[in-house]
Amino acid sequence: MSEEKKVVTPEPLIQADDLCKFFQLSRKATLKAVNHVTFNVNKGETVGLVGESGCGKSTTGRCLVNLYTPTSGHVYYKGRDIQTFSKEERMKFHSDVQMIFQNPYASLNPRMTVGEIVTEGMKLHHSKLSSAECQQKAEALLARVGLNKEHMNRFSHEFSGGQRQRIGIARALSVDPEFIVCDEPISALDVSIQAQVINMLKKLQQELGLTYLFIAHDLSVVKYISDRVIVMYLGTIVEEAPADELYAHPVHPYTQALLSAIPVADPRVTKAKKRIVIKGEIPSPINPKECCQFTDRCPYATDRCREEVPVRKEIEAGHFVSCHLH
Ligand SMILES: Nc1ncnc2c1ncn2[C@@H]1O[C@H](COP(=O)(O)OP(=O)(O)OP(=O)(O)O)[C@@H](O)[C@H]1O
Ligand SMILES: [Mg+2]
Repeated sequence: MSEEKKVVTPEPLIQADDLCKFFQLSRKATLKAVNHVTFNVNKGETVGLVGESGCGKSTTGRCLVNLYTPTSGHVYYKGRDIQTFSKEERMKFHSDVQMIFQNPYASLNPRMTVGEIVTEGMKLHHSKLSSAECQQKAEALLARVGLNKEHMNRFSHEFSGGQRQRIGIARALSVDPEFIVCDEPISALDVSIQAQVINMLKKLQQELGLTYLFIAHDLSVVKYISDRVIVMYLGTIVEEAPADELYAHPVHPYTQALLSAIPVADPRVTKAKKRIVIKGEIPSPINPKECCQFTDRCPYATDRCREEVPVRKEIEAGHFVSCHLH
């Protein structure tokens, strides 16, 4: 009997489908923070979401966890549109999906003790747990993120940035989530402790079977932690690929420029690598033109790029690009 090769099809846990989030600033000014974005995050994987400041990464993350209601488009969780959830399903969703925020200084309530911060969600979502059980669970969580039970009665302002982010991570884990949006969780931290926090997030993922959307500016961080990477520019996705593939064969001129900006330790490689400098400033997301958003800064732009929105094409298995040149 011939052995059949087992094909494992990835199972989407959360999906953004043609997602838009617009902010109406005035009668005539629409800020298109997220502009027709489609992607999947499969169970157990880490998807990196990268791009310059203001390109819509946090807004995308907030739509996924239902902190923002999309202007149009859908978010599907385990195949179901989250806007159609019943009250109970919505409650469950809000414990299944969590967010770790960019700034651990602003995202923790200074008037709450660490114990209160970590047990708040448990009390809401796991109301069957007794106070003693919540306490025990909180202590175990703090130990998991490298803090200890003596920290329970202290306030967040007594801690360093790295410790605060650990408290933020313990809070996210307190409700036993499946999916976490990590919104630049290390960008506000000292370089010396960034690696510790990243390694901890990786370890937690393996131990708890978590799925991450990992948001960052820094393509080098994303490379280390991501299975797949999505590159955003001015509210749109320009390229998406498995991490190795994206770094080896970037296709979109914007991805190529972002990658060329990563410093390389080996001087021989640095010499061989041509730095691509993107001209001009990132344009305003207010009333953007219906065309490729990168046109004004792209060294290869043609008339078509200025007139037509590029459609997403799959150029290799799992490697998508939205560019008229391909
Ligand atoms: N509540 C809001 N009201 C109006 N505009 C907003 C709001 N939230 C975000 N924006 C705008 O939407 C755009 C995308 O913002 P977003 O925070 O998603 O970007 P980002 O990629 O996360 O940037 P950064 O890397 O700086 O965190 C920006 O132009 C921002 O000013
Ligand atoms: Mg952000």
